Amino acid sequence: MSSIVSVSSRDGVAVITLDNPPVNALSYALRDPLNKALIAARDDDTVKAIVLTCAGRTFVSGADIREFGTPLTSKEPNLGDLIATLETINKPTVAAIHGTALGGGLELALGCYFRVADAKAMVGLPEVKLGLLPGAGGTQRAPRLAGPQKALAMIVSGNPIGAADALKHGLVDQVVEDGLVDAAVAFAAAKASEGAHLILVRDRDEKVAAARGDEAALDAAIKKATAKARGLVAPLRCAQSVKNAVMLPFEEGLKKEREYFIELVTGDQSKAQRHLFFAQREAAKVSGVDKTVKPRAINRVGVIGAGTMGGGIAMSFVNGGIPVTILEANEEALKRGLATIEKNYGISVSRGSLSDEAKAKRLALFTPTTDYGDLADCDLIIEAVFEEIGVKEDVFTKLDAIAKPGAILASNTSYLDVNTIAGFTKRPQDVLGTHFFSPANVMKLLEIVRGEKTAPDVLATILAIAKRISKVPVVVGVCHGFVGNRMLGSRSAESEALLLEGSSPESVDKAFTDFGWPMGPFQMFDLAGLDIGWRTRKSLGLKAVISDTLCEAGRYGQKTGKGYYLYEDGSRVPKTDPEVEKLIADKASGKGINRRTISDQEILERTLYPMVNEGALILEEGIAERPSDIDIVWTNGYGFPIGKGGPMFWADMEGLDKIVERLEYWHGKTGKDVFKPAALLVKLASEKKGFADLQAGTA
Ligand code: 3HC
Ligand code: NAI
Repeated sequence: MSSIVSVSSRDGVAVITLDNPPVNALSYALRDPLNKALIAARDDDTVKAIVLTCAGRTFVSGADIREFGTPLTSKEPNLGDLIATLETINKPTVAAIHGTALGGGLELALGCYFRVADAKAMVGLPEVKLGLLPGAGGTQRAPRLAGPQKALAMIVSGNPIGAADALKHGLVDQVVEDGLVDAAVAFAAAKASEGAHLILVRDRDEKVAAARGDEAALDAAIKKATAKARGLVAPLRCAQSVKNAVMLPFEEGLKKEREYFIELVTGDQSKAQRHLFFAQREAAKVSGVDKTVKPRAINRVGVIGAGTMGGGIAMSFVNGGIPVTILEANEEALKRGLATIEKNYGISVSRGSLSDEAKAKRLALFTPTTDYGDLADCDLIIEAVFEEIGVKEDVFTKLDAIAKPGAILASNTSYLDVNTIAGFTKRPQDVLGTHFFSPANVMKLLEIVRGEKTAPDVLATILAIAKRISKVPVVVGVCHGFVGNRMLGSRSAESEALLLEGSSPESVDKAFTDFGWPMGPFQMFDLAGLDIGWRTRKSLGLKAVISDTLCEAGRYGQKTGKGYYLYEDGSRVPKTDPEVEKLIADKASGKGINRRTISDQEILERTLYPMVNEGALILEEGIAERPSDIDIVWTNGYGFPIGKGGPMFWADMEGLDKIVERLEYWHGKTGKDVFKPAALLVKLASEKKGFADLQAGTA
């Protein structure tokens, strides 16, 4: 026995308890004693059944991701060996599941004859989110228990399911409200004493045999499940492996699963996605905000402005169960905002993702008002009014007068100076930026903008509440556009230049979607609305010749049916517009530009390398704490392909020396500042290092 694995005996049932905090990951240090404990219990004739349970907050939540890429992953006993040991046992084996049984954790449980789960437990095979597939038999055993269609949905999405759903689909055998281990022991003892016929999951054939007769239905389900793979290999291998479970004998399917796993775990996409897994957790660690800093209590949130952003922000809190007082400038605007919120919930109901009852419950959490006095009991108040400093001043002055002491005052500004906004109050320590992304009830990213005077417990509070409302927070510093929009700015200017020099919106967007983005810059402009950037540029005295001309013609993008593309009859599908082609050609000839064919490589170099360069400046200035924070911003807020790990991770893969060389080339050719290599980039490149070295402290 080790402290990680302990065994006790209850009524002749051996209870093997794993204790490897924080999430009982299956590191080598756990696997070895567990294998020994299983063999000992198997060979002990006084043991009539075995229960596998975990101490702490959760059942096993997977293989130890930190071991991937090190010799420890395959060091014997590996996870497959452990499951093989389980399958040599001729007495009832029961996994007692609480918390989350994920990945290798669920695979381990599937190596047992039975599974008993706590009612609040979740089970899932999330490997695809790490660019992998379940590599210890999950793709072969889950379809045999739950049926191929359910297993396919779980494995390709990576989303966990609740205990009740798992019971319904046969993944668990019993669900208990409390007393999990007692229930599992009783279950195991009963199976032993009734001499239950024990069938290993691998030997259960009914559900896969049924599917074998209808290959076309399975293929159709696979096509649907993998439709949005966007160049990611893992979803395809996951789906193929589930199909193998149906079409091939168990051992052959298992062998193929192993081959796919090795291919994926050694590939760049999985490395990128594993980087993002840890990056997201790193982002929650903020200098000056350690675990001793206690968050303030948030029981009610106020949202000012029920427009595009205010409505979505309010929905995010309500969806997390937090009541919201929503304030508008007048009754009419308030009514309009609430109608949009109700319509959005209605869409969820019609799609089947929300019940009528849940919709009514959520709507009941909104308190609409036009009276600032009604915000006095709010613990956090977020302003999402027009992007004009005068309007922000008016709002924050009023808030300073009515908000209770200790209330946190936040601005959703995209570009304005959070320190200036904090200065409109006598409590700058309670002020910060909470920059949500549109649509705010959907998009995961939350840029938390730390002002010069923002108190550490204010940051701790917003970090904690972000988790409660399922957002991915990244703390950033004050500058124009913070991290995301600032880097977007350097990309956008060059996208316009490419049009004048010979590209079309279609060719630029295609280079982006081929790279793995869900959409290119021009589709994104049309979606967000060209007028937003136009207004900002006008206030700063800046110009973007094509975009400005489109706006002057009332072409604001999808909302007006026309932008860089044409959207016919309310459709969201972009169509080439000859008028735009002509406009671009005319503007180019007016500037004396000889348009030419521009390669995808050039498009990517001229748009993405400046982003990396801006990222380096952001790091130099301390606006982002670490390179991986920038990757989290871009993958969660702007659709940077997760298989490439975010701009800074991708830059390391490209090689910083190559990026510097090409930036210098473009700088020499165009003289534009966006191509002038940042000192940090030059330094890292000259030392043959990358952003990863900067983060690891080795640069
Ligand atoms: N391996 C190594 N470390 C892990 C880990 C894992 N599988 N899962 C979580 N951790 C670490 C986190 O990095 C974090 O470390 P830190 O405190 O140093 O930053 C710590 O555990 C706590 O994690 P969270 O902050 O995420 O804790 P939460 O309570 O919010 O969430 C969780 C818990 C739902 C279990 C979440 O951590 C999670 O989703 N983990 C990953 C699950 C997963 O992907 N499993 C599959 C692994 S791959 C696999 O099993 C391959 C197999 O098929 C062969
Ligand atoms: P919007 O124009 O859709 O909504 C603003 C709302 O604020 C309007 O309904 C208006 O009636 C209300 N309002 C104006 N002054 C008010 C006041 N004094 N008191 C109460 N209500 C008032 O604007 P949107 O797009 O929601 O933007 C709001 C803020 O969010 C801006 O600062 C913007 O920069 C920022 N933002 C916008 C994003 C977007 O994609 N639209 C993304 C991220 C941030």
